[in-house]
Amino acid sequence: MALVGCGSALPAASVSNAALSERVDTNDAWIRSRTGIGARRVAGPDETLTSLAAEACTHALAHAGWSPESLDLILLATSSPDDLFGTAPRIQACLGARNAVAFDLTAACSGFLFALITTAQYIAGGSVRRALVIGADQLSRWVDWDDRRTCVLFGDGAAAVAVEACDADANGLLGFRMRSDGSRNGCLTLAQTDQRQALLGNLSAQRGGFAPIHMNGQEVYKFAVREVPAVLAEVLEACGTEANQLDWLLLHQANQRILDAVAERFKVPPERVLSNLASYGNTSAATIPLMLDEAVRDGRVKPGHRLASSGFGAGLSWGGALLRWSGPQG
Ligand code: ACO
Repeated sequence: MALVGCGSALPAASVSNAALSERVDTNDAWIRSRTGIGARRVAGPDETLTSLAAEACTHALAHAGWSPESLDLILLATSSPDDLFGTAPRIQACLGARNAVAFDLTAACSGFLFALITTAQYIAGGSVRRALVIGADQLSRWVDWDDRRTCVLFGDGAAAVAVEACDADANGLLGFRMRSDGSRNGCLTLAQTDQRQALLGNLSAQRGGFAPIHMNGQEVYKFAVREVPAVLAEVLEACGTEANQLDWLLLHQANQRILDAVAERFKVPPERVLSNLASYGNTSAATIPLMLDEAVRDGRVKPGHRLASSGFGAGLSWGGALLRWSGPQG
């Protein structure tokens, strides 16, 4: 499977740390020093997960030089769908990708990496030739804007990567590992509330609805700085690749301190660690393709470059992959 195009879309409204401190008891110095975040985008009334993802896909299709009709698969990684029955088909309709099957995959901040790896299996099996893998989240609708421990962290965004079947020498997914540990699920949840609605006599049914994001920040931080280096070390060893052969570290953008800790473990210099946390915060499933798109467009990531990537977050879930970019430059 080759990675041959990318695109992204962000809401127009940017909320700076200073602006947020008018809403909740926080300040720019605290947020920047603990997380590296300076601002985040928040979807407005005319922006939906579907519209942002469809725009990102349009850019990715143009970048790859593909028509929508040539797609076999659209896989949307999200934890904040517009429709719990599935949002990917709405995106398919927006694009006019009438030959593609489209469905959602949920694995929080690991979602994009898990979706990319899942797509590679369809391509390896021969049933899919061309696919768009989307990472998109609109967590602004699930954040408690009065909870300063979580609301400063998250933002909205969408990005997509175009992938296709290729010869072995163009392969863009050189190795991977995926992990889950549901016993630590309580560290980070966006869970169903326990409200009931009367049904018949003394029988009641659960009423649909979710509580805002709840996070034990310190536990998630410790989990990330322990598991991300471990899973990446496994991937690199399996690929016979040394850290000094990497062009870039492309990690889930959750916290600059996590990026720095992983980079230090592998002795990757700061200038080879991709980060856009300062502008966008944590956009969950969107962070990895959003960062890739930015770095491809500005010419940092060039054809043939190797990127060590890791997604990690709620589930708990995490994974690592060694990627190679094959798309156009810029
Ligand atoms: N502004 C000002 N003060 C704050 C804020 C804020 N926004 N948030 C918390 N504080 C205060 C706390 O109340 C506490 O004060 P106290 O000591 O008087 O009680 C103090 O700052 C320290 O709070 P901690 O929670 O201990 O802060 P910590 O250093 O752990 O940083 C953070 C918190 C940034 C959330 C960190 O734990 C972290 O980054 N964790 C990882 C989060 C993450 O990576 N999530 C990724 C997965 S996301 C996904 O999967 C959807």
